[in-house]
Amino acid sequence: MIKKKNRWEVSETDVTPEKIYHQRRKFMQTSGAFCTTMLLSPWGSTWASLNQSITGEADATSYNNFYEFGTGKDDPVKSAQNFDTSDWKIMVGGECDRPGEYALEDLIDSNVVEERIYRFRCVEAWSMVIPWLGVPLASILNKLAPNSRARYVAFKTLHDPRQMPGQNRSTLQWPYREGLRIDEAMHPLTMMAVGMYGKTMPNQNGAPIRLVVPWKYGFKSIKSIVSIDFTEQQPPTSWNMAAAREYGFYSNVNPEVNHPRWSQKKERRIGDIFKQKTLMFNGYEEEVAGMYEDMDLHINF
Ligand code: MTE
Repeated sequence: MIKKKNRWEVSETDVTPEKIYHQRRKFMQTSGAFCTTMLLSPWGSTWASLNQSITGEADATSYNNFYEFGTGKDDPVKSAQNFDTSDWKIMVGGECDRPGEYALEDLIDSNVVEERIYRFRCVEAWSMVIPWLGVPLASILNKLAPNSRARYVAFKTLHDPRQMPGQNRSTLQWPYREGLRIDEAMHPLTMMAVGMYGKTMPNQNGAPIRLVVPWKYGFKSIKSIVSIDFTEQQPPTSWNMAAAREYGFYSNVNPEVNHPRWSQKKERRIGDIFKQKTLMFNGYEEEVAGMYEDMDLHINF
């Protein structure tokens, strides 16, 4: 039996060895037209029909939001270089049968790390297309055996003002928190990423492990995660705590619901000059709309 690939999957191979990835990149860089805008087709991705081009690696790793390292877009790349992510542990708790402290290798089998090329839409109306390396979040959560009371999953970023200078200021309440409903967390699109562009995750992009939820605004994709909690109640989240009127719990990309201070109808892809239309659920409507069928997305924004 032939298993039909999901639309978001990279069809060439699920596991891209780093060497082959770079050989392919090299090939594309020398093949003229692909020099600046690397079309997806050489990756053999099913996204090729959407004619998306991958954001330049230099842009994606130097234009960042990571307030623990400052609020300027170029603060994280400068201030996070010495961030120590060795011997990283994740504390798991709440409504599950296997709580405890886990090392990354206990949660992620490096043999099944796969590459996924996703659109990424920030609430600030810019966007990127990024080749992530990681695993479906569901593969991690299933190992932790959530019980029937687990209706949400809550995440926290490291709190360490010595290493994270931005935490000495009260721009947000630290640690940074995020959360998903359990069906969103278990959705096959939701990813725990440990790398990008065929390499280990750069510190400024959320090393050593971060969430990637491509149909939601970028702030849901919490970086440098140190805790996972299964909860019965909807967990508090940093941006909602900071400005509830502006940032809801769901934060699904939705061109029909404007931010109170700006429109969400269009976005500028980093590296492009012209804006493009923002798509419902960031283009993943077919895959995720079913989870919100009974909800008024103007209320649950
Ligand atoms: N996670 C933490 N811990 N702190 C942050 O400030 N910023 C969020 C999200 N995750 C943020 C975070 C926002 S607003 C965005 S748009 C993305 O990270 C940016 O990810 P990138 O810098 O890798 O593009």
